[in-house]
Amino acid sequence: MIVVRTVGDLRDALRDRRAGRIGLVPTMGALHEGHTTLLRAARAADDTVVASIFINPAQFTEQADLAAYPRTEAADLALAEQEGVDIVFAPDAAEVYPAGFATTVSVTGPVAETLEGAERGRAHFDGVATVVTKLLLAALPDAAYFGAKDAQQVAVIRRLVADLGIPVALVVCPTSRDADGLARSSRNTRLSPGERTRALAIPRALQAVTDAAAAGISDPQALRARADAVLEASGIRPEYVAFVDPETFAPVGVVDRPVLVAIAARVGSTRLIDNTVVATA
Ligand code: PAJ
Repeated sequence: MIVVRTVGDLRDALRDRRAGRIGLVPTMGALHEGHTTLLRAARAADDTVVASIFINPAQFTEQADLAAYPRTEAADLALAEQEGVDIVFAPDAAEVYPAGFATTVSVTGPVAETLEGAERGRAHFDGVATVVTKLLLAALPDAAYFGAKDAQQVAVIRRLVADLGIPVALVVCPTSRDADGLARSSRNTRLSPGERTRALAIPRALQAVTDAAAAGISDPQALRARADAVLEASGIRPEYVAFVDPETFAPVGVVDRPVLVAIAARVGSTRLIDNTVVATA
């Protein structure tokens, strides 16, 4: 495995490998088993696996959140090596955003402006869209891997790849969960043991919605009441429980086709998100 810090070195390293398939797994480091799912999917499908590690300042709308983001490069490189990554691209901020940088890739509409876009601010998905565009152009991979855990991020990236005509196949990997059901996240380490137990209400709420939808309930308000009851029992007041179209994130009035159910909630001071796709029986 080699580690490169500049776009020039990344392109040099990839030059002789373009006859085979190149897979890119973008990350912000602090790698955990959720990321491993993506690395393994790429390793299974592609000849060359590139993982990027870049804590993208542009997508953080709270300075404290950026400052608190775990920086664990040595452990990340060891894990990447263990998972068979060929090239790690780990640029610094000046490589990605050199002096004079003045371009933003901004996806508009509910897909970028609602839910996470509303809670975290417009700058969040602008930052994600801009950095992902830059990473895709730097590596020009055949495939890029993203996690369903961040469903809205996937929808934003799908939109920009289609709109800008970037020739890459997006591969969405299912949400990886701990044995107790909690979606894996680098933020989970911030939960106290008590908070972690309470946080399990989030996947339980999603399950309650799935079960109710399977039993024939198709009214989002009635389904939402199921989720709210489960969350409330654990003292969790969600920021949102949303029923939206998985591609456009427009709200749906009736669950008569696959609908994305997305939850965001703070448990203590830690903000968690999770989602699932439900369909009525
Ligand atoms: P990061 O939070 O490091 O996540 C990197 C990738 O891992 C994302 O595609 C995310 O959806 C996926 N992932 C995280 N937890 C997961 C889980 N439990 N199961 C499945 N996949 C999971 O998301 C980002 O970084 C950044 O926004 C990035 C796309 C790299 C742009 O900066």
